[in-house]
Amino acid sequence: MNIRMHSSDCANSWDTVFTGTTEYHWREPHPVVARLLRSVTAPRAGSVLDLGCGYGRHTLLAAEMGFSVTAMDVSPVALAFVRDRLSGVPGASLLQHNMSSIPYPFSEEEFDLVIAIQVIHHQASCGVEATLAEINRILRPGGLALVSLPSRLQQGPRWEMLDDRTAIAADGPEKGIVHFLCPEEDSARELFGTFEVESVVLDQWDHWCVLARRS
Ligand SMILES: C[S@@+](CC[C@H](N)C(=O)[O-])C[C@H]1O[C@@H](n2cnc3c(N)ncnc32)[C@H](O)[C@@H]1O
Repeated sequence: MNIRMHSSDCANSWDTVFTGTTEYHWREPHPVVARLLRSVTAPRAGSVLDLGCGYGRHTLLAAEMGFSVTAMDVSPVALAFVRDRLSGVPGASLLQHNMSSIPYPFSEEEFDLVIAIQVIHHQASCGVEATLAEINRILRPGGLALVSLPSRLQQGPRWEMLDDRTAIAADGPEKGIVHFLCPEEDSARELFGTFEVESVVLDQWDHWCVLARRS
């Protein structure tokens, strides 16, 4: 399986994360994603974008369930890992692309579902808004986005605040990586103004998991 290369602006930081730690070997799918995929009873296998796929726990699950999946990430190291994990599993393609580089190389209304777990907050607020607008463009009408956004900074690293909702890790495995926060549920909801929000749950990692439908 080939990895389509599109752009790699901030790939280095994430390659370092994936090369330097085993903490990112997240194998078990997020329970909210697993529940959603199991609940989809479309008459046909839907098309899924796993945006910021990391080590591909959701790509693999969706492909094994018969969805047609595109796994997109900025990190070639992560994508190489996903490619190995997918060997023998049909229905997935890989794309190296920076989510800040808009438009993504997809047509309008290409996907039934976009999954972005612990990904889109790795940019400033304007980037988060632009990514959500792009997700809206590539979803078919009625399609779903499942996006998680942190309600707080994790303990461990030292944080430098860029503004009251944006911080950058000053040390630790994610040194130099931006984190945008949604402290309250409403601040997460309001980012999805062009969608119909179906549910918001706070997961065990204190991320808001927003399930939103494209109108
Ligand atoms: C915390 S990990 C989450 C991985 C995966 N979604 C999961 O739930 O296992 C964040 C992922 O976002 C990717 N990422 C961060 N910034 C990105 C960007 N600008 N464009 C594309 N992917 C990015 C990272 O490479 C990493 O794989």
